Amino acid sequence: MAISIRSCGRTHCPPGEALPDCRVRQARLQAVPSTLLIPLAARAHGARLYPWLDCHDTQARHLLDCLEVDCAPLLRDRVAVLNVLWRTRVIMAWAEAFFRRHPEATGVALGCGLSHYFQWLDTGVNRWIDADLPEVCALRDALLPPARDRRVNATVDLSRAGWWDTLHLPAFDAVAPLFLVCEGVLMYLPPAQVRDILAEFAQRAPAGSVFVLDAISHLGVGQARHSVSVGPTGAEFRWGLRQTGELLDIHPRLSVAESRSVSECYGWMGWAAETLCLPWSGAPLYSLVALSADPR
Ligand SMILES: C[S@@+](CC[C@H](N)C(=O)[O-])C[C@H]1O[C@@H](n2cnc3c(N)ncnc32)[C@H](O)[C@@H]1O
Repeated sequence: MAISIRSCGRTHCPPGEALPDCRVRQARLQAVPSTLLIPLAARAHGARLYPWLDCHDTQARHLLDCLEVDCAPLLRDRVAVLNVLWRTRVIMAWAEAFFRRHPEATGVALGCGLSHYFQWLDTGVNRWIDADLPEVCALRDALLPPARDRRVNATVDLSRAGWWDTLHLPAFDAVAPLFLVCEGVLMYLPPAQVRDILAEFAQRAPAGSVFVLDAISHLGVGQARHSVSVGPTGAEFRWGLRQTGELLDIHPRLSVAESRSVSECYGWMGWAAETLCLPWSGAPLYSLVALSADPR
């Protein structure tokens, strides 16, 4: 899809105001990268629908203004908006707990899109790497340029082996663990690539590092056309979980530190529906898992 981008290299322009020094250009995003607009719109305006899940993402609102995107059609996908706001809260809680224990550690957003976790997770001494495909990094460099050497944008293709070295991440015997988040990404990749990405994390990460991922149930694979927001992008769901435990078969260093299901947002009815569906769906319809890299 083609989008117009207004950018002046600043990150804090007054929302909704076209500044005289803004340059306007066109960018073209392929199907999967274009899905970054879905979480961006949810974080910017989803609190209108779910005020109790408001993540107060002022950066997302500003970025949508710069992109001149009509996000009304995206907000019609209420399920996706709920999923994104819920996952943002859970990831924030896990990340805050991690950085309380390791205030100087590095965080990494893999397939970051235009998310901006460092606005909430800056401890004053930690570092953050936002990594995505080249076309998305070009967008980020225009709209969210690196800040104070502690937040950088990096180009990576997770479908290629060696992404750990591409991002210059520390060796497994480094003292400080890492916090990696890969949200809204793995479901678009073939299962073999997902296994390779998690195996690379397990082989390379310092002990105590955490890899947070979100997953759909395997029942959703091939069903993207039924999604109000993903369907029109042409992207497809290619990977889903049959059961959460299968993640542990990828590498002996992996263990599940935390896992949550979005069914918790629907109260006891969500719990009952999930319990009834699990024999058939295997894993929750949408869940978050924090994998930890154990000591060798
Ligand atoms: C739905 S968006 C999620 C963006 C972001 N994580 C968020 O929650 O706002 C999917 C993102 O995955 C990225 N992505 C897909 N395949 C990738 C790959 N092979 N390597 C790196 N990033 C990838 C896309 O470019 C896109 O930014």
